[in-house]
Amino acid sequence: MFSVSSCFWILSLFAGLGLGVAISPGPIAKVGGATYVGFTDLTYSVDIWAGIRYANPPVGPLRLQHPQPYRGSGTILSQEYGNRCFEIGSGWNQGTQVGNNSEDCLVLNIYTPSQSSKNKRWNTERPPWPVMFYVHGGGYNQGSGNDYKGQSLVNHSVELKSPVIVVAINYRLSFFGFSGKRLALQWIHDNIAAFGGDPEKVTIFGQSAGATSVGLQMTAYSGAHQDLFRAAILESGSPSDTLPTPPATWPAYQDAWNAVVAGIGCNTTSASVFQCVLAAQSELLFNVVNAVGAAVPLPGSLWPWQPVVDGTFVADFPSKLTAASKFAKVPMIMGFTTDELTYVIPTTLNISSDDVIIGLGEVVLPFIPLTTFEEMSSFDPLSTYPNPGDVGGTEWYRTTQIASDIFERCPGREWIRNVTKYANTWKYRWNAITPLDLAQAPWENIVHSAEISYIWGPSISPAISQPLDVALSLQAQKGWISFAATLDPNTLGDLSPGVRWPRYQRHSENILVFQRPDGSGEQANGAAGTTVGQGLHKEKDPDDRPICDFYAANDATWARPQPPSLSPASEQAALNSNELGVLANGYALNGLTSPAFAGSVNGKNAFGAKDSQTPLQFLYQPANCRIFYTEEMLFSPDAVWKRTVDATWTDPAANCV
Ligand SMILES: *[C@@H]1O[C@H](CO)[C@@H](O)[C@H](O)[C@H]1NC(C)=O
Ligand SMILES: *[C@@H]1O[C@H](CO)[C@@H](O)[C@H](O)[C@H]1NC(C)=O
Ligand SMILES: *[C@@H]1O[C@H](CO)[C@@H](O)[C@H](O)[C@H]1NC(C)=O
Ligand SMILES: *[C@@H]1O[C@H](CO)[C@@H](O)[C@H](O)[C@H]1NC(C)=O
Ligand SMILES: *[C@@H]1O[C@H](CO)[C@@H](O)[C@H](O)[C@H]1NC(C)=O
Repeated sequence: MFSVSSCFWILSLFAGLGLGVAISPGPIAKVGGATYVGFTDLTYSVDIWAGIRYANPPVGPLRLQHPQPYRGSGTILSQEYGNRCFEIGSGWNQGTQVGNNSEDCLVLNIYTPSQSSKNKRWNTERPPWPVMFYVHGGGYNQGSGNDYKGQSLVNHSVELKSPVIVVAINYRLSFFGFSGKRLALQWIHDNIAAFGGDPEKVTIFGQSAGATSVGLQMTAYSGAHQDLFRAAILESGSPSDTLPTPPATWPAYQDAWNAVVAGIGCNTTSASVFQCVLAAQSELLFNVVNAVGAAVPLPGSLWPWQPVVDGTFVADFPSKLTAASKFAKVPMIMGFTTDELTYVIPTTLNISSDDVIIGLGEVVLPFIPLTTFEEMSSFDPLSTYPNPGDVGGTEWYRTTQIASDIFERCPGREWIRNVTKYANTWKYRWNAITPLDLAQAPWENIVHSAEISYIWGPSISPAISQPLDVALSLQAQKGWISFAATLDPNTLGDLSPGVRWPRYQRHSENILVFQRPDGSGEQANGAAGTTVGQGLHKEKDPDDRPICDFYAANDATWARPQPPSLSPASEQAALNSNELGVLANGYALNGLTSPAFAGSVNGKNAFGAKDSQTPLQFLYQPANCRIFYTEEMLFSPDAVWKRTVDATWTDPAANCV
């Protein structure tokens, strides 16, 4: 099975000699009738096969359909990164953007220890090697596997005498669906042996939406098909995230579909609407999807394109599947950064009261009763947290932390507790950010994604350059590699001298804090449960707090959203009477995901969203059930409120259910 060629040539040498060879020499892997020709990164002694197709191009009639397996044949040059899947906005990238956006994007990249005679280091640890399979983040709307280069991880694994293979995949984003991951896992299972990989030792890891995706792979098909992976790492996400995986019938999704369909000139009510969408030109579709997506620029529970309960892949609410133990019971590492969602709550707000916090909650999670938010905000009294950045009002930082609790940390705590009933688990808190990453928005502190540069490693992540960051990066990589190779992050030795990472258990002090050796990095922000120690150290679970107990007690409400049941008539009545509280608590605010305004109008809570890039009336205007406020409202609430509502609430009878 193992068939990597030992014939190596330095590609640049050929280029220099001007040989017009049709097939550049490089590492070879034979898969069925196909011969994949990769290239070698000599700096790291890593072989790379880039842009390997694992599915037929999902274009034309295959658009929006399940991915179809691709069988390659003949010689396939795999020396250039492939297209990125279409992304909303200008792109969310950790590294240099590589590749063009295209629908034809279902490819993966493979990084292995080099078989070159120049690199003898792996010789004692012969293949097959364990595989680390990465699912990128980006809110299901952005990102690409191309942004995650495996050279440093692979190089480090060789140095640890425990070589691994790293795989990073693309999967479809936004309107185009998120499918591809399962087929890519299948492709790796079937073919990775040809690259030196062990199909029985695949660890699936991911960050943010990638972590949620990993969790959804665990609950997929009610937990069946575990043979595709044997372990999981979830960085800042879980399947029960309060990006809540709602029912497929959630009205906001119909609205988003209608907006796109109308935008490309198809007739939403025609029986052949689906054929019309399949026939649309990619470029037109991209532009329209981008415009619709741009209307909701921040993550919110009702972002137009998120995984939903489809009854098959996501057979039921993930929290229900978990409670019924219908998930793949594999060992797991999971953790969060210290400050997580500080990038989500706009700093343009002036948050100074509970009312505003409660209102924001209502905007983003309208399916949760107002009283629940009232109770929730009581766990962290006003000004529990200092606000070091002095942005967004006195309660801004506190708001970001409550958001982090309800979106990420509390659901994550429930998830790891459930998985721990069946498998070994480890939990971390990531408490460092590189100076380069921090400089982008210092008030965000140790924000969501802070660990990414460290995990992917020195030099391949430009942000990892200072010795303290390099040291921390290598410690974390060692844990990840050890876990992938042996199902225990400690097997390859202490991550830092004298520090072992104990398994997660409820109520014990065994959360590993990843921090620079000298203890620097954490801002003195007073986030609940955090400790500042030197280097890697252990602490009690920072999520073992009353607010997460409260979340757990209300899990069914939070994690199993049902569409609100206000009728169009009652919405209109509420609108007419300016009962903003009622509206905020009802269906009318569905789809508002980017609170740019929160305050009060006529003594009532008022919350709104405004897209800063495009006029409100533009494409995303199935808006008959939707109310937008403008920022001007801050200055003259009444006038703008009335005008804005009049402008968007044009047809109370249409599209409201
Ligand atoms: C590869 O790993 C070795 C051992 O950890 C390290 O000394 C070397 O700097 C790494 N190479 C690169 C290019 O980072
Ligand atoms: C990306 O698009 C540009 C402009 O259309 C083109 O020149 C380039 O070859 C494309 N790159 C890839 C990798 O397809
Ligand atoms: C859209 O399709 C419906 C149902 O076939 C039809 O009644 C209507 O006239 C169509 N609208 C336009 C603008 O073609
Ligand atoms: C965990 O399990 C409990 C009890 O079985 C269940 O109520 C809860 O929904 C589960 N939570 C998650 C996040 O899976
Ligand atoms: C923020 O709101 C508080 C309380 O209403 C007020 O005192 C303060 O002046 C406001 N700050 C700004 C910058 O508007």
